[in-house]
Amino acid sequence: MGMRGELLYEGKAKRVYRTEHPDLYLVEFKDDATAFDGLKKGVIAGKGEINAQLSALLFRKLEKEGIATHFVELVGPREMLVKALKILPVEVVVRNIAAGSLSRRLGLAEGTPLRTPVVEFYYKSDELHDPMINEDHIAALDLAGPDEVKEFKARALKINEVLTRLLEPAGLVLVDFKLEFGLHRGRLLLGDEISPDTCRFWDRDTGEKLDKDRFRRDLGGVEEAYASVYERISKVVG
Ligand code: TMP
Ligand code: ASP
Repeated sequence: MGMRGELLYEGKAKRVYRTEHPDLYLVEFKDDATAFDGLKKGVIAGKGEINAQLSALLFRKLEKEGIATHFVELVGPREMLVKALKILPVEVVVRNIAAGSLSRRLGLAEGTPLRTPVVEFYYKSDELHDPMINEDHIAALDLAGPDEVKEFKARALKINEVLTRLLEPAGLVLVDFKLEFGLHRGRLLLGDEISPDTCRFWDRDTGEKLDKDRFRRDLGGVEEAYASVYERISKVVG
């Protein structure tokens, strides 16, 4: 499709282009990977395509479950047409099992189950290294409105339920994940991506990490892990 217009934004893992339609953007998923605020850089061969395809599959599933997303359609192996969003500067993280920064912050061994899902907010700011914030900070800095914050939490928990249920027959445990929301013509939509870059997936039986932690922590088998997640999930999604 010859709809790639002006490059609007280039991030660590994606490029966003205008299209001939003012309401639609084209997202191109890259193989580039960074961690620790870009301090660690690398390439994960095939990642762009896997993350585009997997995100498309999961966005479609979420839409069926009544969660509005920016997804429109795939227009190439790593190219996704989306509704133009003004992304709100809040990252919404949901956790089911302690890992990563939560383990460090609270001194919980990785793998400790959490009694209830935990929703956290982070301020999207590269200069500040995405500090954790709460609803009062969001209001005080006017990062989003009070109704939007309620929606962040409600939708994040619903998405957690849908994804957890979906991953079960794939033999994957959803440890935690990060979401971004944005506004399209005044409507709040789920944006960004849902992929091994933005989720932690562990093998149910072996506990093996099948996500970007393999890259962050130099565990090897990065490409294989991404491919395995895609293969397992695409098999169980009808
Ligand atoms: P954390 O334990 O490092 O705070 O990460 C929580 C979740 O958020 C994990 O699933 C990975 C995801 N995440 C991103 O998508 N982008 C990021 O920049 C970071 C730090 C985490
Ligand atoms: N992508 C982020 C960065 O480059 C962090 C991460 O996913 O670990 O900092």
